[in-house]
Amino acid sequence: MSVTVIVGSQWGDEGKGKAIDYFARNADFVARYNGGNNAGHTVINEHGTFKIHLVPSGIFYPHTKCLMGNGMVIDPQVLLDEMKEIRRAGIDFEKRLFIAQRAHLIMPYHKMLDGLYEQAKGAGATGTTRRGIGPAFADKISYNGLRWADFIGKTFDERLAVQIGLKNKIITALGRKSSRSTLDVQGARRLASGDALDYEDVREEYWNYYEQLKPYIKELAPIVHKGLEQNKKFLLEQAMGSLLDTDWGVYPFVTASTTLASAATTGLGIPPRKISRIIGVTKAYSTRVGAGPMPTELPDDHPAREQFAETAATTGRKRRAGWLDLVPVKFTAQINGTDALFVTKLDTLSGIDELKICVGYKLDGKPVQFSEVEGAGMARVEPVYRSFRGWQEDVRGIRKFADLPKNAQKYIEAIEKISGVPVRFIGTGPEREAVIKR
Ligand code: IMP
Repeated sequence: MSVTVIVGSQWGDEGKGKAIDYFARNADFVARYNGGNNAGHTVINEHGTFKIHLVPSGIFYPHTKCLMGNGMVIDPQVLLDEMKEIRRAGIDFEKRLFIAQRAHLIMPYHKMLDGLYEQAKGAGATGTTRRGIGPAFADKISYNGLRWADFIGKTFDERLAVQIGLKNKIITALGRKSSRSTLDVQGARRLASGDALDYEDVREEYWNYYEQLKPYIKELAPIVHKGLEQNKKFLLEQAMGSLLDTDWGVYPFVTASTTLASAATTGLGIPPRKISRIIGVTKAYSTRVGAGPMPTELPDDHPAREQFAETAATTGRKRRAGWLDLVPVKFTAQINGTDALFVTKLDTLSGIDELKICVGYKLDGKPVQFSEVEGAGMARVEPVYRSFRGWQEDVRGIRKFADLPKNAQKYIEAIEKISGVPVRFIGTGPEREAVIKR
């Protein structure tokens, strides 16, 4: 039996899509266990380039069963659009995509509230993706959420009426104060206004979604447990990154779900003892989208910063970027129980003369551990760097460690030594086969 969890060791966008795609070839089940369409996994394969937000990245392998766990929050319109795109690429998933009936729904008012709360917080905003994630999880935890199970149990209409009544009061109160914004996100039509929602409109819209998605909505527990009994191989994919975990990220610059490997158990109904391997995906440098401290961030005009330039898969926002920070990577490896690292995007570093890795933090001149610094303190820590000679050669597509330039080998060995976790996989390009296995 093998249950592998893939977690990002940083702030998300580590290249988990590629890592999952790499492992999914040997998996029977590929499952998402947390978050919603705030996530964006980029998968490049023979069918094209896909930016997947909700469907497990294993969907491109016809032999896999793909599960969307109860730990997720689902925006049905986004899911239907994504399914359409995958279908258009010729992928058949009719009998192998399963959506947990216990998963919570992202409702139009969640997206509106996400935008309104961010606006109200002004300079202190979290920089959310404005997909309604925080408000949807808040409703789940405060017993106000709506689930697919509400359609099945015929409680949807009644519960929706209560929620629309409640949420309209908040939306109209907050909306009056905020100007009509121009938020370029999904659901912008409603999100941009503080107007009350119409119960009948929302009811009809969501029943329509349910009718289209009904064939895929199931109770996942029997499917998962049968798979475990039959010793099937499971690949569990985290969304976002470990540093965005609600408890262990730097609050409030976090996301609304537990992102750690441990959440795979509650988010799918898998017993903790069944997890056999945890792989931490770590980008060869650091990036972050949204607000919050990032000790190794480089200024926009730094030459290396230019090389790390990326836009986020979900929001198209420019990612903040900087040197590889192994302080949080080491910490997230501890709290996840990471067995091995998958270092991605090594090819991006070619051509930089001097590379730096952050190996420690100092606060007010004294060395501090990652977990000792909370909240505002993290914005003041000074990174302690070690320098490494770079390499000029293009390493794209290299598949043997020995074929890497010596300095690239040393960079990887340093990651291993400083983080205390073996680097077993190295990504050398976006293509599916561009991986070194050690
Ligand atoms: P939310 O998840 O949309 O509520 O946003 C909370 C924080 O998490 C913001 O800083 C987002 O930019 C960040 N975030 C959420 N999802 C991702 C992701 O998949 N990759 C990177 N950052 C993310």
